[in-house]
Amino acid sequence: MRRDVKPVASRLKPIVQSPTVRLGALVNEMKRRGEDVISFSVGEPDFSTPQHIVDAAKKALDEGWTKYVSSMGIPGLREAIAEKMKRENGVPCDKDGIIVAPTKHALYIALTGLVDPGDEVLFPDPGWVSYAPMVHLAGGRPVPVRATEETKYEPAPEAVAEAITPNTKAIVINSPSNPAGSVYSKETIKGLCDLVTDRDLFLISDEIYEKILYEGAHYSPASFDGMFDRTVTVHGFSKTYAMTGWRLGWLCAEKSLVKQLVKVQEHTITCAPAFVQIAGVAALKGPPSAVAAMVDEFRARREIMAGEFRTIPGFHVFRPAGAFYFFPRYDFELPSDEFAERLLTEARVAVTPGSAFGAAGENHLRFSYACSREDIRKGMARVRAFVEKLRRKEGQ
Ligand SMILES: Cc1ncc(COP(=O)(O)O)c(C=O)c1O
Repeated sequence: MRRDVKPVASRLKPIVQSPTVRLGALVNEMKRRGEDVISFSVGEPDFSTPQHIVDAAKKALDEGWTKYVSSMGIPGLREAIAEKMKRENGVPCDKDGIIVAPTKHALYIALTGLVDPGDEVLFPDPGWVSYAPMVHLAGGRPVPVRATEETKYEPAPEAVAEAITPNTKAIVINSPSNPAGSVYSKETIKGLCDLVTDRDLFLISDEIYEKILYEGAHYSPASFDGMFDRTVTVHGFSKTYAMTGWRLGWLCAEKSLVKQLVKVQEHTITCAPAFVQIAGVAALKGPPSAVAAMVDEFRARREIMAGEFRTIPGFHVFRPAGAFYFFPRYDFELPSDEFAERLLTEARVAVTPGSAFGAAGENHLRFSYACSREDIRKGMARVRAFVEKLRRKEGQ
């Protein structure tokens, strides 16, 4: 029987294609055609992976790290991660509380492993594009909680408290955050932890941008009193070490929970590639200067982009304290997907529409500054020219 609409599972129906992945593919296609596009759309450092990490992977391949390994991850990497989590984050985990997996998959493992059909999962709006789809895939109900300019793009504990119902199972938080680059204050994290404890919930803390931090301090909620048993901390190598294509990250939790969660890994991807895990050890044990140099460069680019925004009227710029994005709100009478599309087709600049990050992201655009200083200057000059044209038209 031929069907025009394939009979996919109902859990796929509310999910749209990842806007960031789609936009990235479109920009690559335009560049392949020789078009001069400046991309502020991808959340991917433009640096090469540091050489000592690449060398470690090559050596591991030569040494035969090409077979299945434990679903939890190789002991050497889990030990290095546990040591990092204890020393830097104050999280009391050991190697049996770690599952090594691509970061996105680590989040998927946590959500699939915790969420029953109908369970509600709260997450920040605007927030990363994949939280809601992953909750759907887990059979749960995504519940966005406003985390807007008024609360410095942090989910205020009061707003989260209002969204909690008897069906709430977990809260997802993300600091430093995508898309706004907000770094949650200690008070916000403490307030969220108190809610999680009082209401008997789980916290999933996505800390992938931990090291891309310019101001303030990073707090891991799993280090707060009584929180370790209720928190799944998710982290990854992609952003810190410019390793997006290696697909490596981890989750960290109390070990009896991890023993359950690892079933998802066993029956999906089995394990992260062994030679990539060896490279992960080299990343964690390598010189901190390699990361510091990249963060310093991001910091300089942040200043350049901030300076450019000051010359473009109509954008209200929140100063990011972490990650590598600006998420300005704008005054123009244009939905963000249309704005982004016109910037791409008329000005050859790719940005991500704010609506991709949730309803509260409307009237915003996300500009990634994980690209060269030259591209930032060139791209922002195009945005300025486009906006001037727009303002002339709106003024007519
Ligand atoms: C907030 C956030 N969490 C998780 C991820 C997934 O990271 P990875 O590419 O390492 O799977 C990303 C990637 O963009 C992200 O921005």
